[in-house]
Amino acid sequence: KKNLQIAIDGPAGAGKSTIAKAIAKRLELFYVDTGAMYRAIAYKALNLNIPLKQEEDITRMARQTDITLEHSEARRVFCDGLDVTEAIRSPEVSRSVSVIAAYPEVRERLVELQRQEAGRGGVVMDGRDIGTYVLPDADLKVFLTASSEERAKRRWLELQQSGKRLSLDEVQKDMEARDHHDQQRAVSPLVPASDAIILDTTGLQVEEIVERILNLIKNKP
Ligand code: C5P
Repeated sequence: KKNLQIAIDGPAGAGKSTIAKAIAKRLELFYVDTGAMYRAIAYKALNLNIPLKQEEDITRMARQTDITLEHSEARRVFCDGLDVTEAIRSPEVSRSVSVIAAYPEVRERLVELQRQEAGRGGVVMDGRDIGTYVLPDADLKVFLTASSEERAKRRWLELQQSGKRLSLDEVQKDMEARDHHDQQRAVSPLVPASDAIILDTTGLQVEEIVERILNLIKNKP
């Protein structure tokens, strides 16, 4: 089906982006990493020394920010023309992002961008509120989970590979705090859509998960 929409949501480290990218490649769809957009706003706030608690200032800044996600294999992320691909993955940004992601007007602005992206053609979009809010009519909604230990380990390995030395314990604590914040916020909290398929990926290999999701799509009426 043309213009197929696949929503992949879940907590941090559940494997969303790895899985979403693989599915996008197999089905020749766009991949949209919505977390990168929230991260770009958090990064810019840190960079400009705007205190995260100043909702109005953050909101104003978000409205004036230009975010571009590259669709080619490199998938670079640009914020006001600046390449922030690596910078938005820092532990500082990870610790700050859920604060600004709770602001309704920041979300409004980014959701508008996300729906614009979806308007270009078929997409696999990952995030926290894709199935519940951004693409409520998606053809398939998947909510990925995994045990907190396994999610922390995956994230820790990624950070190690990019040269960031945090302890596994620190990574797990940061992650749990961020998930808690994402689940508790008033607007579009992290929760599975009522029609989402919940997939626990603990102990599963990436290939197995991708195959399962591709089968779900094939078997859709
Ligand atoms: O997916 P990623 O871990 O990069 O997302 C970073 C943060 O951005 C999340 O912890 C959450 O606070 C926010 N986010 C969100 N809604 C989305 C995607 C991300 O609130 N759709």
